[in-house]
This record gives sequence, structure tokens and C-alpha cells, in this order.
Amino acid sequence: MVKGKAPRVEVVQAQHGKKTCVVVGAGASGLAVMKELTALNHSVTCFDENVRIGGVYCASYDRTMLTTSSLLTAYSDYSDGREDRPVFWTDEQYLDYLDGFANAFSLYDHIRFRSSVQKVTKCRKTGKWLVTVRVGGAHVAPHRSTFLLGRHVPDAQRRLAKQEGAATLRAFYAQCEREGFPRVKGAYAYNYFDHVTGEGQRMAPQAPFEEVTYCVDHVAICTGTNHWASLPRFEGQDLFIENGGTLVHSENYKKPEVFRGKRVLVVGAGESGSDITNEISNEALKVTIVVRGKHGHLIPRKQADGRVTDLNTNRCRYSNPYVLGDWVGYVNQLAKKFVAKHSSTKPSDERKILQRIGELNLEQGTSAFSKFGCKNEGFVTAMVCKGAELHRDAFKLAKGKAVFKDGSEFACDSVVACTGYRNSFPMFEHEDVRDVVICPACGCRTKDLNAFGQNPRRLYKQIFVPVFPDGQVAFFGFARPAFGSVPPTAEMQAKYFALVVDGRITLPDTKCMEQQALKDQANWEWRFGYDAKRVKDLVDFQLYTDDLAERMGCLPPLMMLFLTKPRIWWKIMFGPFTMHQYLLRGPFADPQRAALVYSKQPVGDFLECSITAAFLLTAKVLALCGFRDFQPNYGKAARA
Ligand SMILES: Cc1cc2nc3c(=O)[nH]c(=O)nc-3n(C[C@H](O)[C@H](O)[C@H](O)COP(=O)(O)OP(=O)(O)OC[C@H]3O[C@@H](n4cnc5c(N)ncnc54)[C@H](O)[C@@H]3O)c2cc1C
Ligand SMILES: NC(=O)c1ccc[n+]([C@@H]2O[C@H](COP(=O)([O-])OP(=O)(O)OC[C@H]3O[C@@H](n4cnc5c(N)ncnc54)[C@H](OP(=O)(O)O)[C@@H]3O)[C@@H](O)[C@H]2O)c1
Repeated sequence: MVKGKAPRVEVVQAQHGKKTCVVVGAGASGLAVMKELTALNHSVTCFDENVRIGGVYCASYDRTMLTTSSLLTAYSDYSDGREDRPVFWTDEQYLDYLDGFANAFSLYDHIRFRSSVQKVTKCRKTGKWLVTVRVGGAHVAPHRSTFLLGRHVPDAQRRLAKQEGAATLRAFYAQCEREGFPRVKGAYAYNYFDHVTGEGQRMAPQAPFEEVTYCVDHVAICTGTNHWASLPRFEGQDLFIENGGTLVHSENYKKPEVFRGKRVLVVGAGESGSDITNEISNEALKVTIVVRGKHGHLIPRKQADGRVTDLNTNRCRYSNPYVLGDWVGYVNQLAKKFVAKHSSTKPSDERKILQRIGELNLEQGTSAFSKFGCKNEGFVTAMVCKGAELHRDAFKLAKGKAVFKDGSEFACDSVVACTGYRNSFPMFEHEDVRDVVICPACGCRTKDLNAFGQNPRRLYKQIFVPVFPDGQVAFFGFARPAFGSVPPTAEMQAKYFALVVDGRITLPDTKCMEQQALKDQANWEWRFGYDAKRVKDLVDFQLYTDDLAERMGCLPPLMMLFLTKPRIWWKIMFGPFTMHQYLLRGPFADPQRAALVYSKQPVGDFLECSITAAFLLTAKVLALCGFRDFQPNYGKAARA
């Protein structure tokens, strides 16, 4: 690319009557959007900065295991066929699943890798969206996933890539240890194989690229909520660092060995904090985890009987009214604690961990209804088995130590900030486009799209920019279920978007969308309080996906199922909350597939199902008697 040269312009073409769309990002959300749009014959071009599909899992730490089981994480239209034996995928297994999905729906034909979207704006003359992309030259650091070739590449080549990749990673991490990961990762040159074609490639900073501006009807932003680290400034951190202390954000954490023999303070107890505390505890001299308020509501991946906990995230549980939510949680917690204490079949450590989880949740008085989930037992395992400590307190850093508000101190060498992420969209802030007026009627400028993305509550259904009632700009993956999984939520958003693009669903006008967004925001903030304000994409899994389903006409007909297909009704009510329930009718109906999956899917455990069903029945009776607060948690009334 010659400096100053104007980008080549390409007007993307579509079949007659169909639309053109650029999808930014080929993670779980981008793939779902591509699949739904191509299924309706719209023209899609996707760009991703990375060398492969998979988004955050192409940069995750070495021992990442998903916190949502294979049942809850999978899309409704594609599965590994093992619904009867749910597992927790490692990041590499999930990438393999996504590769299968991309192949099954021929998505690779539409993706350009190492392509970074620089600017997005709207042309006043043509009304088309102008997406300027640096095609082919983006730099990314090597990661395990870089050397994980797709299923279609011959086995011998896949093995070779793994071997050569292992050597590359060793050299890369050795240099990182000498010079620091954040410094090295942005400029490391290495060889790799294209994961789709298997061809040898070279990754180098400053690689040549072509700048192209694509003209399209729609833009789908699928850049993820975990792309930009949120790293606060801790009081005293300069003094701490000047005296040899280290401070990293979890996005730059890859392996625990770096902390061998050190004393480490982990800040934040979401899922990153929990996983990382557990990993580091195996190597470090001492680990302390600090939360300023409450940690995520703890749910272990597996229950005392060894079954995945996701089985209990079912419609019966989440249909309980909000006012009973904490009670449902409390009674379940007491019951679980009792079982964990007295079950003799589990090794004692596991029982102690489950018991401690119950105690910690009760201590902070949270439930799955009012607090975002920490669906992993990591930091509790570290506390019970490896001597890690938990501080629920504010702290400041000083020379070689952290000082807590209660006056106690923790001598420490390193701080790992697991303080989450923020949303950012530099493509709307590029100096060439930021002040371009994209809606003359309301005066909206390109940079305002950044503000919409940063606070998804302002989007209609956390998807559509209300300024454009035909859904010209939409965001995907910006609804995080407090309990539940992001990819299937994005799948539902993608289906809704596809129907809007196809002209089969008409969005309300701008004013109505804005009013609805305000109403929804009030509802989420009422339910999740502080959490909904900090995590601006937090939603209730069932309420959110049911709402989209209702708008698409694919809510499961529960009463009819109860009368005509009681087995499927039973699985929906007491099995894991998956999107197959929305395949029973409506525009994406595939009842055969739904029936097949439900024939295999297990249901939750008897104890928890009985408790949640008893609460729900009581709520129904009270609601029928006129107590409106006990209205079950579904339908329009719950969303009002
Ligand atoms: C360690 C970890 C584990 C997780 N485990 C779970 C789990 O168990 N269950 C769950 O539901 N969720 C989990 N999550 C949340 C996770 O973010 C989502 O499940 C999922 O990755 C969201 O996919 P996405 O496509 O929205 O975003 P991402 O996966 O972040 O993908 C975004 C993509 O956009 C690309 N991109 C960004 N900017 C540009 C640009 N300007 N130009 C071109 N491309 C761009 C990126 O390269 C990336 O590939 C986890 C998150 C982390 C960090
Ligand atoms: N294994 C897995 O599947 C896995 C692993 C990692 C991440 N994830 C996913 O990735 C996403 C991000 O998770 P995350 O754990 O990185 O972030 P997160 O869930 O947003 O949690 C951030 C934590 O940091 C705390 N925090 C934020 N700012 C702080 C500050 N200034 N000072 C002190 N504490 C602060 C928060 O406390 P408050 O609540 O008090 O604000 C919270 O405990 C989630 O969707 C999660 O599910 C999954």
C-alpha cells in the first residue's frame, strides 16, 4: 500500500432483490450472522483481523475450558451429535466445533482473514455503507490456535503444523519472558499454515496489504465484548511497579508458570479471575483474590452427582418470578450444601468445594436471578485445595505489597487484573469519518455509532441502531446472559436480523425503538442492579431469547406440547435451555431436528427440578389469585 493512495472501491453485488452485508469479525457471533444471511441468499463478506475463525478462543490462555457445556454453547442447527453426553469443551475443541459449523454451511467462502476494518461510514449520495478494510496484512501474535488446521486439511499437514507450531510457540514465549508479552506480541514474525487451505504463510509486522472500500447495504458488527481490556488504575500502582512489582491484565495472561514461586494478587472474580486464580495457585507461593463487592454468583461446572450443572438452567427454573428468584437460589443452595456434605460417593475435596461454594453464595446473598454468573469453581478450588485467600475489600498497592481497607496486608510480587473488558469500535472514530453525518434527519454522525456500541442498552433489543429502522447497522454478541451462553444468544439475534434484512420483519420507527430500549434498560437494571450498570450487555437468557422468538413467531407452543408431545414439553421444561425449542415452529422450523435432539438431551437433577417446580407452581397459583409480582418470568408481563 502506497501511503496516501486512495483505497480501491468495490461495490458488492447481490442477487436480484437481495441485500449486501459486511460482517466485521469471524468469532461465534459473526459466523452465526453469516450462516443466517447466506441461508436466505443475501451476499455476505466477512473480515477478521486474525488468521482463523474463533475470536477470543484464538487468544485464550493455555488451559481454557468453557464454562458453558457443549449443550448450551452449541448453535441449534449444528451439533457434535453427542447431546446425550454433554461435556465442557476446551477452547481447541470449541474451535474444532466452529470449524465443522463453518464447513457445513460453506462459510469460509465468504471470509477474508488478516483483514482489519479501519473505517465505516455512510455515503450520503448512494445511501450505501462504506467499509474500508486493510485486506490481508493484519498482524497477530502466534497462539496455539494459529497452528490448529481445519478438518479439511490432510492429517499429515495438520500434524506438521502442530509440530512446527509448538517450536514457534516455545521460541515466542521464551522471548516474551525476556522482554514482556505485551511488547513482543505486537511485532513477532513467524511462519504458519493457512487453516483453511493448508498453504504456508508468513506473519510479519508491516506486511503488505491492500486498502479497499466496500459499498454495501448493511453492516453487522461482531467484534466481541472481550476485545478491549478494561484495566483500571490502582492506587499506588506506580510505586508498586517502580519497586519491581508486575501488573498484567488477564488478556495478557497465557500460562501460570510465569508466576512460579511468586506471591500473586488476582483482582476481580468473574470467570477470568476464577480460572486464573486456580491455575496460578498450582505454581505460585501464595495467591490472594480480591473482590471489591460481590464475586459472580458461583455455580460449579458439575454437580455433586457428576452431571453438568447446565442441565438445571432450564425453563422451569428461569420461569420463576423475579421476586422468588433469590429464594429459589437460597433453598437450592441449602439443599446442595446438605447433599455435598453428606454424599459419600464424592472424593472429600470435591465435596468441600461444593460446600464452600454454597457458603460463599449464601454469605453474599446472591442468586442466579440477581447476579451475573461465575459458572466455574476455579477460585474456590484454589481456596479449598491450594490455600488461596479471598478478600472482600478495597485495596491499594504499595512497595511490594497490597494493603486492604481493613488494615491487613498481602506481600506480593505480581498483580493480575481480571477486571473485564470494555466495548470499543475504532472504525467509527477514524478521523476521516467520525464527523460525517450519517442521518441528515436526526444529525447522527458516524462517531455516534461508537456510543451505541459502547452502551448496547441504547440499541433496539441490544442489536439495532434505532436511527435506521431498516436495520442497516446491527451489533451481535452484545447481549451477555447472566447465566447461559453467548453464541446461541447471538444465533437468535442473527436469525432476527436475517428476517429484517429479508424484509419479512419490519422494525418499529426510530422513536418506538428508542422508547423500547429505555424500557428494556430499566427492566435489566431492576433485575441485576449494579451489575447491569457495569456490564451493559447483561441480560436474562430466557427473557431475552423468548422476546426475540416471540417477535419472530417461534416461541415454543408449551401448552400444545404438554397435551400432544409431553416428552418434548418435559425436556424443554426440565432440560438445558437450548435454542432447539425455537425450532418447533415459525420461520426457522425444523421440528424433526428438535425432536432428535430432545430425544437425546438429559434433564436436570430430581432435587433441583422438584424445588424449582414447587416454587413455580406456587407462583402460578399466587399470580392467578391476583398477586401480580408473582407473575412467572416469561412473556410480555415479565418484560414490562
Ligand atoms: C477466556 C474466555 C472464555 C469464554 N468462555 C465462554 C463460555 O464458556 N461460554 C460463553 O457463552 N461465553 C464464553 N466467553 C465469552 C465469549 O466472548 C463468547 O462466547 C464468544 O467468544 C463471543 O463471540 P463474538 O463473535 O461475539 O466475539 P469474539 O469471539 O471476540 O470475536 C470477535 C472477532 O472480531 C474480530 N475483530 C475485532 N475487531 C475487528 C476489526 N476492526 N476488523 C476485523 N476483525 C475484527 C476479532 O479478531 C475476533 O475474531 C468466553 C470469553 C473468554 C475471554
Ligand atoms: N472459562 C471460561 O469460560 C471463561 C473464562 C474467562 C472469561 N469468560 C467470559 O469472558 C467474559 C469476561 O469475563 P471476565 O471475568 O474477564 O470479566 P467480568 O465477568 O466482567 O468480571 C470482572 C471482575 O472484575 C471486577 N472489577 C472490574 N473493575 C474493577 C476495578 N476497577 N477494581 C476492582 N475490581 C474490578 C468486577 O467486580 P464488580 O462485579 O464488583 O464490578 C468483576 O469481579 C465473561 O463473559 C465470561 O463469562 C469465560
